[in-house]
Amino acid sequence: MSPMADPPLVPEDVSDDVTDDGVFYAVRDGYDAVYDALANGETFGRIWRDNAYCGEFPIEFAHIGFLTLTEARRMLDALPLDPGAVLVDLACGAGGPGLWAAQESGASLIGVDPAPAGIAAAERRARDVGLADQARFRQGTFERTGLPDSAADAAMTIEAFQYAPDKRAACSELFRILKPGGRGAIVCFEVDPAKVEGVPVLGVDPVPDYAPLLEDAGFAIDLYEETPGWADRVYPTFAALVDASDALTREMGERAAAGTLSEAMLTVAMRPYPRRVLIVARRPQ
Ligand SMILES: C[S@@+](CC[C@H](N)C(=O)[O-])C[C@H]1O[C@@H](n2cnc3c(N)ncnc32)[C@H](O)[C@@H]1O
Repeated sequence: MSPMADPPLVPEDVSDDVTDDGVFYAVRDGYDAVYDALANGETFGRIWRDNAYCGEFPIEFAHIGFLTLTEARRMLDALPLDPGAVLVDLACGAGGPGLWAAQESGASLIGVDPAPAGIAAAERRARDVGLADQARFRQGTFERTGLPDSAADAAMTIEAFQYAPDKRAACSELFRILKPGGRGAIVCFEVDPAKVEGVPVLGVDPVPDYAPLLEDAGFAIDLYEETPGWADRVYPTFAALVDASDALTREMGERAAAGTLSEAMLTVAMRPYPRRVLIVARRPQ
């Protein structure tokens, strides 16, 4: 989910913004509000767990995407992760899927996200699940991770790539941070440009097929498939959030609820996503 409140004025520090229109800050600040509010978001948490992944993810690694355990295992099977390998989770948010993958594989995790409250929550969670020595988190974006060349044996990103304001730059950055032979797994939505014209965030750089961009960046595509049953979880989740708008606003506060609800309403009304896909792209040796 992506809070989609009106863009605020661009602050003086624009070093993380690749579009210069303030949308990035609206997204980052919206997510900050959501991550801060999650502890009080009883209704949000219940709706999300029951609908978005139907309880099919370990509660200690709960997340705000649609990733099921079955999907997570399929993703992990496609990544070459030996114990001690370095796994980067881009747009890690509060760290659930990345920490799950680190625990399952024994890999060291580097989580990257623009939202400081997400990173703080991920650090707390790493301590809570006993993975603090195996995981670290830093602020950054798809386009500017701040990581060195060839830092990662593998990378993953769950439910966020569609928000990247410059997908071409994001693909190049993913290629740069992977070692030769390394693989990146992307679970995200394809976006229909005709449905998001003028829409904040999703309308900035809508991509209906990521394969050409990944290939232009130098990747070989190992896997590109639609995730089964996604629409049966995505639309009911957003519809249930809209139905619970009063409770969401009461429990999470105006800022977090407004962003969440505007995305929910937009998704239900416009159906901007032709498909949700799992992509595995390999940086050739
Ligand atoms: C729906 S959440 C998914 C978080 C996490 N992957 C999960 O599954 O719970 C989307 C995440 O994308 C991050 N995000 C938004 N715009 C981004 C950008 N341009 N670069 C990197 N991350 C971004 C947000 O801060 C947020 O944490």
